[in-house]
Formats: sequence, C-alpha cells, structure tokens
Amino acid sequence: MDRIRILGGQPLMGRIAISGAKNAALPLMTAALASDEPLVLENLPRLTDVRTLARLLSELGVETALEELPRAGDGSGGDRLTLNAANITSTTASYELVSKMRASFWVLGPLVARFGEAKVSLPGGCAIGARPVDLYIKGLEKMGCEIELDEGYVIARAPKGGLQGAVIRSPLVSVGATHTLMMAAALANGVTTLENAAREPEVADLAECLNAMGAKIEGAGTSSIRIEGVKKLHGTTHKVLPDRIETGSYAMAAAMTGGEVTLTGTRPDTIEAALTVMRAAGVEALVKGDEITVRRNGSRLQAVDVVTQVYPGFPTDLQAQFMTLMTCAEGEAEITETIFENRFMHVQELARFGANISLHGDKAIVHGVEKLKGAPVMASDLRASAALVIAGLAAEGETIINRVYHLDRGFERIEDKLGRCGARIERLK
Ligand code: EPZ
Repeated sequence: MDRIRILGGQPLMGRIAISGAKNAALPLMTAALASDEPLVLENLPRLTDVRTLARLLSELGVETALEELPRAGDGSGGDRLTLNAANITSTTASYELVSKMRASFWVLGPLVARFGEAKVSLPGGCAIGARPVDLYIKGLEKMGCEIELDEGYVIARAPKGGLQGAVIRSPLVSVGATHTLMMAAALANGVTTLENAAREPEVADLAECLNAMGAKIEGAGTSSIRIEGVKKLHGTTHKVLPDRIETGSYAMAAAMTGGEVTLTGTRPDTIEAALTVMRAAGVEALVKGDEITVRRNGSRLQAVDVVTQVYPGFPTDLQAQFMTLMTCAEGEAEITETIFENRFMHVQELARFGANISLHGDKAIVHGVEKLKGAPVMASDLRASAALVIAGLAAEGETIINRVYHLDRGFERIEDKLGRCGARIERLK
C-alpha cells in the first residue's frame, strides 16, 4: 500500500491548477444511463472513484471510452470520457461495486426511469456515518415506484407507462437524493417539483448537463427544482465543474504553511463560505476571475468558530481541513459538524501531531498550539486524509501518511500539485 512522506515546515509558493470536481463527475457519469446516445464528459479528474463508477457502468453494459489526456505544463486539464448506454445488458448494480462508493447508488434514478426497473445494492454505512437512503426511496415511491428491499438490495419498479411526476418535499437536504430524483423526474410523465432540494453547485452542474441532453429542469441551484418530464434524452458533451473542495483544501494548505498560492481554473463563487471564514481567521484571499490567491504573511491565525451546513454554508467536506488550520490558531475554535454524525475521525490523528482538540458530541473544541510536530498517521476517509496532508506540510519534521488510497479517491496528483509549490512531499510505493 502506498504511503506519503512529507518533510514539513516549507511555506507553499506558486500556482495550483484545480481539477474537475469528483462530486460533479460522479452524478454526471450516472446521467449517461438516461439516454441511448453517447454522453461525453470533459475536464474529468483522474481519480479512483471515477474508475470505480466507470467499472460499475460497464458492468451494466455501458460502453466506456476513457481518454487520459496529458495535463498542461501548469497541471491544468482533464480526461475525456465517452459513455454510451445504448445497449444496457443489466439493471442490477452489485454489492461488490456499490459498497465501494456510495455515489454508485445514484444509478437507481436513471435506470428505473428509462428501463422501468432497477436493482441496486444498498450502499451501507461508511467511516463518516450511517448514511441511510430513505429519502431516495420515499421520493421514488411518490413517483409511483414500487420498492422492495431484498437481501441488501433495493428493487424499484416503475408503474406501467412510466414514472409519474410528483411534488416531493424532503424533510432534510440530501445531495444524492436530489441528483437521483432529478434524473428520474427528467424522464417521468408530467411535472415533478423537488422542495427542500440540495442547492450544491454539483446539482446545478448535473441539471445543466441534463438540460443539454434535452431535459426541462428549472431552478437547480435553488431549494425548489421544477422538472418537466420528457420522453427521451439525447447525447451531449459537458465540461465538469471545477472542484470547490479541492480549491478549499489547497487554500487551507497555503494558509497553514504561511505561503502564497494562486489557485487557477476554479469557481470562486462556489467556495465563498470557506473564504469568508478563512478571512475572519486572518488569511488573505483575493479573487480575480477564475483565480484565488491565498496568502498569509507572518502573523498567527486567529481562532474562528465554524458550523458545517448545506450549501451555501460551510461545507462538511472542508471541516477536517479547517480543523487542521485551527490547530495552530490563537485561541479556541469551536467546530460543529451538523451533516454527518461521525465525521471526527481525524481528531485522534491530529492529536498525534500535538494538536489539542477535545470532542463533545457534534462539537470539537480546538485549542490552538504554537506548532505541530510530524508523526506517522493513518488516513480514515478522503477529506480527513487531506487534513493530515495539510498538518504534515506545516509540521516540524517528518510525517508519514498511511492508507493514502483514500486521497487517490478524490485528489488528482496531490503530491505533484503540492510539490510544484515547494512542498517536500513524496509517495512511497
Ligand atoms: C454528498 O454525499 C457528497 N458525495 C459528500 O462528499 C458530501 O459530504 C455530502 O454530499 C454533503 O455535502 C458526493 O457528492 C459523491 P447527503 P451524499 O445525502 O449525497 C442524510 C466526499 O468526501 N441522509 O447530502 O451521500 C445523510 O446520512 C463526500 O466527497 C438521510 O438521512 O450526502 C447525511 O447525514 C463525503 N437519508 C445527510 O443526509 C437519505 O436518504 C446529508 O447527506 C439521504 C441522506
């Protein structure tokens, strides 16, 4: 298993090109199932999660052609993936693949809408929490689906004549349920309204792609989405949205090491909540077009409290990274996690660097220390791994991060991108 070795204490200086967003790419890939014409995705990040989902789609009979395009000198660019779901051979998504990655469950929506039935394994819990799928099931039932749970699988059957449009009011905001129900509704009879829908930019990106395929979706990016079903969707070419979580993670790495980094090819408007909090902590963040320059010169960061919220609030996917930033801030920062009940696995690992953090239910109190010291640590999930990398970059001495396969799920060439900015980081095979 690969490990990452970091010799910390070097301020990051330079430019980092931001890749396409994993969390946009995955739902976009599942959208290919909604049409019998090819969907071409550009600016695709090179990540194991993308490969895992491509494998699942090809098990269903989707023809997948991945072009691994060379990156430009500054690291910008992405791959191109053509997905052709003209000849689907199965509507069953196996436990083996769905259990690897929760987003695989989202094939349920387009499969049942286009083929009238689907059998998809329940994703199961994961390191960050229980993560049920009740909202997906209730939403599909509202559209007339019959749902059966059998041996760990969800079996969904559409009524004769296809899914029916419905008003679906979700008791809580779910990104995945919004993606799934939006794809299902795109091919349903009549109008569907999703109330209390997720407003995440990745939902808007999926809607943009579906509309380019002929769907009639309005309001994506707000909490009320109106979808007028159409009979058929056609092919299109779509460029994946830049990754706001990668952007925020590198912004925090720059701030933590006291350097100056310009993040290029990003969408600064999608990361405003995090930039606001970072500015309050004393970080300079200058936005110009599709670039953000992040800088911290000399002075110590100030502790700032944060509560994770659905978009446009502070993202749970940056909570661990921000906690790292607060480990060396002046004062005491209270970090409240409201989205996932178990997303504090990094606390124990940050303690190994000398961080002083106490846990109280959904709150972590971070008492800033003068400095961190490098340590061997273990990555527990994708974003927690990024938090450990950030800690390692700022810590004195050597850090070894084990289980880096978590990082490869969601950060393209992290050691290259950081290495270009002067980080002393290498992958040990
Ligand atoms: C997406 O997960 C992201 N994943 C997550 O990123 C992200 O943390 C999360 O949204 C929140 O922003 C992808 O986009 C691939 P949810 P998702 O449904 O859709 C509860 C990363 O590191 N819930 O919005 O699975 C659920 O348990 C990942 O890239 C129900 O109770 O998240 C959670 O507490 C991690 N019932 C809350 O809603 C349901 O039926 C929000 O989850 C569905 C969800």
